[in-house]
Parts: sequence; C-alpha cells; structure tokens
Amino acid sequence: MSKVLKFVLNGMPVKVVAEPQETLLQVLREKLSLTSPKCGCNHGDCGSCTVILNGKAVKSCMIIALTVEGKSVVTVDGLGTDGKLHPVQQAFHEYGAPQCGYCTPGMVMAATAFLNENPNPSYDEVKDALAGNLCRCGGYQKYVDAVMAVAKGEFGPIPKGSDVDV
Ligand code: FES
Ligand code: FES
Repeated sequence: MSKVLKFVLNGMPVKVVAEPQETLLQVLREKLSLTSPKCGCNHGDCGSCTVILNGKAVKSCMIIALTVEGKSVVTVDGLGTDGKLHPVQQAFHEYGAPQCGYCTPGMVMAATAFLNENPNPSYDEVKDALAGNLCRCGGYQKYVDAVMAVAKGEFGPIPKGSDVDV
C-alpha cells in the first residue's frame, strides 16, 4: 500500500507518495524530478545513483524509499553554496575528470561523503573510496587526483554541512 513519505532533500522538507517496493532512486527521479542520480545498473554495482543519506554515501537504487522517512538525503544538487561549486565539484571540473559525465554525480557524492569522514586520505584510500563507482570512460585517475587535490586544500575548505544532517 502506498504511503506518504516525508524526508529532507537537499536541506528542504519534502513529502511524496511512495509505493512499498519503490527505491529511493525511483522516487528521486520519477516523482521528484531530480535526475542527477543516474540509473546505470539498478543493481548496486555501478555507483551512478550514489547519494548521501544521513552523512553516508549510499547507492539509492538499493534503498527502499520508505526507509528514508525522517532522514536527510543529499544529491549533487544540494552541494554548492552561495552560487559556488563545492570543492569536489570544482576539482573534478578543473582536473577535467568528467568525460561523458554519466558517473560524475555519483562520484561527487561518494568523494564528498568520504572526505567528510576522512579529510586527510592517502592516494590508495581515495582509490578504495571510489572503487564502487564505475566510470565507463575510464577517467579514474583524474577523479582520484582531483580528490587528492581537494584533500590537500587546493580548492579551499570543504564547507561544513556538506553532508547535511538536518
Ligand atoms: S544504478 Fe545504483 S549502483 Fe548502479
Ligand atoms: S565520465 Fe563517462 S562514465 Fe565516467
């Protein structure tokens, strides 16, 4: 039976009717018209649907929507502040990491959640953190280099609250 689901999306309260079998990815894309999380595999394998749920990176195709009741969900749309890109977004742009861009929103969210928890990672830790996000264009090196640059402060401090626990 469908239910009214209430949660916080990119800092704003939202209310939407969801079916018991619907995933968070379906609700975001099909009911809330938020298409930045991509549906690459729909099986938890590619990471293109990654969002931040209560501070943790999750694959939204593997989350039953009704389980996010009362929680905070952040997509790439909720990261920038005051018209400025988040440092991870800026770094990906300046390092020329995205090619087709399909994996990029998921990469941004995985990298952001990781840096929020581990602001001083090693190169290998960054590689491990992004290992669940597939890039069909093979841009891994640039993504990892960009995350390392953010960790070294090349793009300024990571804004507090970019993991948005509201
Ligand atoms: S679409 Fe969710 S992991 Fe691939
Ligand atoms: S940039 Fe094309 S899939 Fe990663």
